[in-house]
Amino acid sequence: MSDESRPPAAGARSEAPVAAVIPAAGRGVRLGPGAPKALRTLGGTPMLIHAVRALAASRAVRLVVVVAPPEGTAEVKSLLDAHALPERTDVLVVPGGSSRQESVRLGLDALPPGHDIVLVHDAARPLVPVDTVDAVIEAVRAGAPAVVPALPLADTVKQVEPAAAPGAPEPVVATPDRSLLRAVQTPQGFDRATLVRAHETVTTDVTDDASMVEQLGERVVTVPGHEEAFKVTRPLDLVLAEAVLARRRLTDGF
Ligand code: C5P
Repeated sequence: MSDESRPPAAGARSEAPVAAVIPAAGRGVRLGPGAPKALRTLGGTPMLIHAVRALAASRAVRLVVVVAPPEGTAEVKSLLDAHALPERTDVLVVPGGSSRQESVRLGLDALPPGHDIVLVHDAARPLVPVDTVDAVIEAVRAGAPAVVPALPLADTVKQVEPAAAPGAPEPVVATPDRSLLRAVQTPQGFDRATLVRAHETVTTDVTDDASMVEQLGERVVTVPGHEEAFKVTRPLDLVLAEAVLARRRLTDGF
């Protein structure tokens, strides 16, 4: 369904403007040597620009806060100046921290008042389709305090006792029922006050924002994720991302 033809969602937050925080301050060590991951190019355009455009493609998103590598803030600002975004979208750039969690918190600190729904989206997921972004926003607008896009797993998952040395055999201790597991993606969507409270309260290390909201005892729900919202982590992911871009160019002139 196109954005224009979608009926307005019910509820008090149906008109709330949406802000997106994009943590982009990671080094991307697993991708190999080179520039910070978010600044590496896909189809000639930095991954970060793809990610910002993917979120700004949603008409609900009015502000994007990019959390940049601290030493690369000026470079990120000039990159954003050099690439067109929809006129309705404002962009702020702030320096990031030493962990993803800290970078997201610094992005939240920079949010002006008036955006009651916040998305958090990894710069490393540059190709998320706008329909996935809109599905997350709609679920928050419908009343969920936290929403994550999720996909069933293709692989069976084993819980192990981690080996001390890399590559050494690891004893398997359990095989969780795969039908109960989901791989989660971003953007994750939040009622802003709930996400801020989670970042103020939870001090343990986490790998996503929704798990902080879970620790508050608040309800977190999933919506269907998308295979093109994968995270670019290893060199093979860059090959896949280039292939997805090439297919989009062929099929819809993207
Ligand atoms: O390391 P990982 O792949 O989980 O990082 C996910 C996202 O968090 C990436 O977009 C990365 O740039 C960002 N990040 C960050 N600040 C850090 C570490 C990671 O903004 N210190």
